[in-house]
Amino acid sequence: MLDIAIRNAEIVTAGDRIHAEIGIRQGRIVSIAENVGLARQDIDAKGLLVLPGGIDAHVHLEQPQGGGVVMADGFESGTRSAAAGGNTTVMPFALQQKGQSLREAVDAYHAAAKGKCYVDTSFHLIITDPTPQVLGQELPALVKAGYTSFKVFMTYDDMVLNDRELIVVFDVARREKAMVMVHAEGYDAIKYMARRLEEAGKTAPYYHAESRPQSVEREATHRAISHAELTDVPITIVHVSGRDPMEQIQWAKKRGMNVYAETCPQYIALTADDLKGLNMDFEGAKYVCSPPPRDLDSQKAIWEGLRDGTFDIFSSDHCPFRFEDAQGKDAPGARTNFKWVPNGIPGVETRLPILFSEGVSKRRISIERFVELTATNPAKLFGLYPKKGTIAVGADADLTFWDPEREVTISQSLMHHDCDYTPYEGLAVKGWPVRTILRGETIALDGDVLGAPTDGVYLERGTSRAFSG
Ligand code: URP
Ligand code: ZN
Ligand code: ZN
Repeated sequence: MLDIAIRNAEIVTAGDRIHAEIGIRQGRIVSIAENVGLARQDIDAKGLLVLPGGIDAHVHLEQPQGGGVVMADGFESGTRSAAAGGNTTVMPFALQQKGQSLREAVDAYHAAAKGKCYVDTSFHLIITDPTPQVLGQELPALVKAGYTSFKVFMTYDDMVLNDRELIVVFDVARREKAMVMVHAEGYDAIKYMARRLEEAGKTAPYYHAESRPQSVEREATHRAISHAELTDVPITIVHVSGRDPMEQIQWAKKRGMNVYAETCPQYIALTADDLKGLNMDFEGAKYVCSPPPRDLDSQKAIWEGLRDGTFDIFSSDHCPFRFEDAQGKDAPGARTNFKWVPNGIPGVETRLPILFSEGVSKRRISIERFVELTATNPAKLFGLYPKKGTIAVGADADLTFWDPEREVTISQSLMHHDCDYTPYEGLAVKGWPVRTILRGETIALDGDVLGAPTDGVYLERGTSRAFSG
């Protein structure tokens, strides 16, 4: 006898749309058939779409920040918010601080996550201090232990790697078969622009966007691609914001390079004008992230890329900071100067509804492509497929039921995060995740999170599909 039978399901995967029943036993899908037989529990999905649970491959939770800044979400609130938003797996970052060993960073991050996850998690690493010990011993050992991806930064004082460091890190990734995620913005160009704007008295949050124009992202994207070509390693360019960096990625893909790309909700639902706030005031800080949102032409380009395969994955880059926090308030120019605004905005709960509504409901992308971008490809790119990211016999029973007709206006009052705002306040969406099932257990239903913070398990990952051609 089955534990659960999902009846009347309109199942959508990256490749198919079928009407069938799903049989679940011990948290896994054991049958997909016209009639799966008797079960202890029946769940009726009539009128709903049944999709693989969302995999958000780019979230920041409880990540240590400099200067007394504290991230708004830890594991408990961040994964609660993820569950409510139709996700069953999130991938946050274990950040190596300068001088710290990678293993120490990973152990501390596991300790922070223990018993606090409503959904499954798996960590990427962030490498900020590529010492011989890190590159020669720690990183290879961690990749073998299932930490098969890491992020590197081409900007930020406390995280930037120079070209030589990038190249040696890429080389280790090639040898160990780890996926490198690249934050591609040029450090020196940003420094130059930020100083020029500050000298001109242009310090409102809006000028954050002017300090990091697309040319800065385009140049760094090309540089990262060149280093990847030199070292012969697959890379993923993360949080791509517009046409200019996209052209570099398209150029690489056309040459047959193993270059993958991610974009995020802020680049289809926000523009740099949002950083102007009400009248160039501090409200604009609610939209400060890097790279910054661009303009309507960039949004158009992103949609083209979501359709034509320039983009492989669509993640939130959830990186929440509280607007009303006291952090940095005593600093000179605090709450006026963009340089004091921590970079990042919340979005793990709104990622799927925004792409569903703006993409599927408005007929810009197919529902199969939606599944591919938000679940199947993240699982493939980061070594979780086919356990995660699809609906198939043998896969974990991670499912999200969608009501494609439900109309919702996004507001802070609906959110389950610990941030004090959503940058998408007032955005009307059509299509909403109404039930999230994690390994057979309903963890969110109609806006209520029913699961427990002990439900999520940690996932050791295999090698990215990028290494198998
Ligand atoms: O502004 C952003 N995106 N902050 C999060 C950190 C990162 O670079 O992904
Ligand atoms: Zn980044
Ligand atoms: Zn990020």
